[in-house]
Amino acid sequence: MPITGAARIAGIMGWPVSHSRSPALHGFWLAEYGIDGAYVPLAVPPDRLEQALRALPALGFRGCNLTIPHKQAALKIMDRVDPFARSIGAMNTVVVTPDGELEGSNTDVFGFRENLREQAPAWRASAGPAVVLGAGGGARAVIAALIAAGVGEIRLVNRSPDHAEALAGDLATPETRITVHPWQQRAEVLAGAGILVNTTSLGMDKEPPLDLDLRALPESAVVVDIVYVPLETGLLAAARRRGNPCVDGLGMLLHQGRPGFAAWFGVAPEVTPALRQAMLATLAGSR
Ligand SMILES: NC(=O)c1ccc[n+]([C@@H]2O[C@H](COP(=O)([O-])OP(=O)(O)OC[C@H]3O[C@@H](n4cnc5c(N)ncnc54)[C@H](OP(=O)(O)O)[C@@H]3O)[C@@H](O)[C@H]2O)c1
Repeated sequence: MPITGAARIAGIMGWPVSHSRSPALHGFWLAEYGIDGAYVPLAVPPDRLEQALRALPALGFRGCNLTIPHKQAALKIMDRVDPFARSIGAMNTVVVTPDGELEGSNTDVFGFRENLREQAPAWRASAGPAVVLGAGGGARAVIAALIAAGVGEIRLVNRSPDHAEALAGDLATPETRITVHPWQQRAEVLAGAGILVNTTSLGMDKEPPLDLDLRALPESAVVVDIVYVPLETGLLAAARRRGNPCVDGLGMLLHQGRPGFAAWFGVAPEVTPALRQAMLATLAGSR
């Protein structure tokens, strides 16, 4: 829809930025809700990030998203940062306040929680320990969300033990124990689990498959894959065959966009089947 001189503007900074799905996501919502606004890709090299972020208020931007490689560096430039972004050490959303300050947040935590709530509404933190595979950026958001939900024990399995130990040291709380396990033990630690989350890139298109024996996993355990290309990963297909409730990764991607859109454009957007279809079409053949 055409925009006017009064249009609200937001965007996404990345380097490169051309791979980002966020313009398609926010563009869908802008059209859906008939909003006089625009969401634009902003190719910003790392050495100009501070300059670009500080220019947002002067340019009248409502804010922006951040993608690779800016998610960590931007933290130091914000005037305020939410507790999740602080503990995770990465942020993806900037809101410009009316007085021109920059507020940073991490909405991947919200995205994971909302997607889980939508696709596995019966899951409870009391169902049993969580098993998380992977210790990268996605794992940090997932683990922060599981801690916030009240999970008492998280079994963290990663190829590189030092990455897992660092994550556990950064995120463990008095209420939530994070135990670190070698990659070779990934099948054994499934015993008694209430939820299993794959946050590694294994199973993604053009990556090796995730080799995991699910026999020890209770059939009641929720299985989540945050990989979303393909939508039905090998892990989800195997879990579905044995009757586990399954949650795909597309919803996390879509839900993480909601807080930013609401702050910038003044409408709380919904994740609908039509949005999922539109985004699946943009993902087809990509990774
Ligand atoms: N749905 C969503 O909204 C969402 C959000 C974030 C990420 N994701 C997806 O999650 C996946 C990971 O993203 P990320 O940002 O967390 O990446 P990342 O920070 O690079 O972390 C990658 C993780 O995968 C592990 N890994 C990679 N190759 C492996 C292998 N061959 N064997 C065992 N482990 C391996 C890494 O282990 P090491 O520590 O040993 O390197 C690390 O734990 C990607 O597919 C991404 O698209 C989805």
